[in-house]
Amino acid sequence: MQATHIPVLLEEAVAALNLHPHDTAIDCTIGGGGHAEAILRATAPDGKLLALDMDSTALDASRKRLEQFQSRVTFIHDNFKNLKQIYNERFALHKIDGILFDLGLSTLELEDQSRGFSFSINAPLDMRFDARTALTAADIVNTWPDYKLQKVIREYGDEPLANEITRTIIRARQQRPLTKTKDLVEAVLPAFRKILKSTKEVPWIGGIHPATKTFQALRIAVNGELGNIESALPQAVEIIGAGRRIAVITFHSLEDRIVKNFFRRESHDCICPPEQPTCTCGHHATVRLVSKKAIRPTSEELNRNPRSRSAQLRVAEKI
Ligand SMILES: C[S@@+](CC[C@H](N)C(=O)[O-])C[C@H]1O[C@@H](n2cnc3c(N)ncnc32)[C@H](O)[C@@H]1O
Repeated sequence: MQATHIPVLLEEAVAALNLHPHDTAIDCTIGGGGHAEAILRATAPDGKLLALDMDSTALDASRKRLEQFQSRVTFIHDNFKNLKQIYNERFALHKIDGILFDLGLSTLELEDQSRGFSFSINAPLDMRFDARTALTAADIVNTWPDYKLQKVIREYGDEPLANEITRTIIRARQQRPLTKTKDLVEAVLPAFRKILKSTKEVPWIGGIHPATKTFQALRIAVNGELGNIESALPQAVEIIGAGRRIAVITFHSLEDRIVKNFFRRESHDCICPPEQPTCTCGHHATVRLVSKKAIRPTSEELNRNPRSRSAQLRVAEKI
């Protein structure tokens, strides 16, 4: 049976976009199409949607789900880091009234038996959102030098045991290449058993599998996720109409920090260092923060969909 993706912060994100009938929106991460469907309902009867995803299987799934809205949706297989170019080439006749980013991966991808995103499904160590790109997780774990591998695991996984994990991965790959997710899990576990002095096969830590952070780190590195969002946000501000909103749902602190800092900086007129007595930057605020704090899932949503637990929604309005 195919997995279904439950959209996270659905009502909150769509309400925050404040869309009206006939509006035009961009969903930068269409995934299974859950947010998109709600956006299309909010902009009925004839509002248009530009739908992007790096993953062709996500586009197939959402195309199917959104069949009834077909004439109103343009699907594009691309990385949202190319947002402005895509807009200029495909959608420039439209004034953009709302832009959504729902970052990370969908349940369709996580539970795909062939993609390697999950430590609990034995699959090739791939982790690419877009099968047309070259770098896979197997390339990283088998060929990257130890200092680079350690940096990825520490920085993108926020993993305090990055040192030890890198050592056990290097040791494992000297025996034979790690080609499956199971190989990676088995390479990571000895680091935890050693540090925690545990004899357990899998020493879970507070309900979290020990390989969770390493998998997250590799996925971020394979897909260049942080760079993508860093380059897309200014483009979103550039192409959206004045008084209209950009909503971003993040799933870990690295992403959230990028969004928070970008919106905060763009909401100020002067961005000179605070110790500087007079302004020399000439910067003008481009957005207003719709809410100072990130919006989080309600306890009802957390009960219904535990995968929403780390989600945060930030919204900014173009000035
Ligand atoms: C959390 S899911 C989106 C779920 C969707 N909102 C829904 O309701 O079904 C994130 C999606 O973003 C896609 N994605 C991640 N990074 C991307 C990027 N840089 N450009 C385009 N799509 C991206 C993934 O392939 C995945 O399908």
